[in-house]
Amino acid sequence: MKNNHYVIFYLSQSNHLSTNISKELGVENGELELKRFLDGEIYIRLKESVRGKEVFIIQPTANNVNDSLMEILILTDSLKRSSAKEVTAIIPYFGYARQDRLNKGREAITSKLVATIIESSGIDRVVTFDIHANQIQGFFNIPTDNIKTIRYLARETKKNIDLNNTIILAPDFGSVKRASVLASMLDLNLSVIDKRRVKHNDVEIQNIIGEYKGKNILMIDDMIDTGNTLKRTIEKIKNEVDGINIVATHGVFSLDKTKYKNHQEYFDEFEKLGVKNIYVTNTIDQTGREHKILKVIDISSVIAGVIDVIANKEISITEYFNKKWN
Ligand code: R5P
Repeated sequence: MKNNHYVIFYLSQSNHLSTNISKELGVENGELELKRFLDGEIYIRLKESVRGKEVFIIQPTANNVNDSLMEILILTDSLKRSSAKEVTAIIPYFGYARQDRLNKGREAITSKLVATIIESSGIDRVVTFDIHANQIQGFFNIPTDNIKTIRYLARETKKNIDLNNTIILAPDFGSVKRASVLASMLDLNLSVIDKRRVKHNDVEIQNIIGEYKGKNILMIDDMIDTGNTLKRTIEKIKNEVDGINIVATHGVFSLDKTKYKNHQEYFDEFEKLGVKNIYVTNTIDQTGREHKILKVIDISSVIAGVIDVIANKEISITEYFNKKWN
């Protein structure tokens, strides 16, 4: 059934979410034509009227962060030129977020730049999921909501992993807050890695603060990209711990083609290091990456809930999620 006051559009990186979201909300997907010219330029044309409608775009900026971001901007431009009333961009994985401050100097702050570009494209509201740093919300001058998936991660790990004799291990100081929330939800102790970035995509483990020897380890991070942050830690502790599980929101899983031919080999290396399970959500599509240690937590119903609140309810998203979990 076409809902007449709002419409949801999916782009190249969000089709995996569309079936469940549409089923849950009872709405059909907005229809569009998306093509690429030979030089790489993106072309989008709406196949239906959006005049006066509230519009939701769902798209993680993943699997080519630049192209997927451009798709959001181009779709927004066509929506605004077609008289959409309000455009909400739901960006389950928000790329460019890690460059959120000056580090060495003479650099860009890309998360601020992307926020500015998104805003100037005409988007009225942004929803993110476990954005790398909460303060990025302040880079926007439009309403933003950052949904925290920690409750879903805690629920899945509690259901599927034996948490006996387990500690939570935070892979750096930046992840301590989330790790400590997970530790308190699962009633476990927390230890922390003191890591230093030695190269653009690699780190060195200096120290481990807290207990870990003889324990089962549950590591938590906001994202796994090259996997090096986690692998360097595991290499250091693997002979002194009982078992290792990993949980993260965003499975970016970028392949270093000089090391791995495919994702099978990428996950094989984690398995060889003794990792039993890697739990990630499907903020990024994991189709084609199947491996026996990779477990995907579906968050499409969370996105559907967010859309329902924005389109139909008079309460804030925070209020909605607090009520849902109480
Ligand atoms: C760093 O601040 C992030 O929270 C992640 O730990 C990091 O981006 C993971 O990247 P990789 O898997 O490439 O080490």
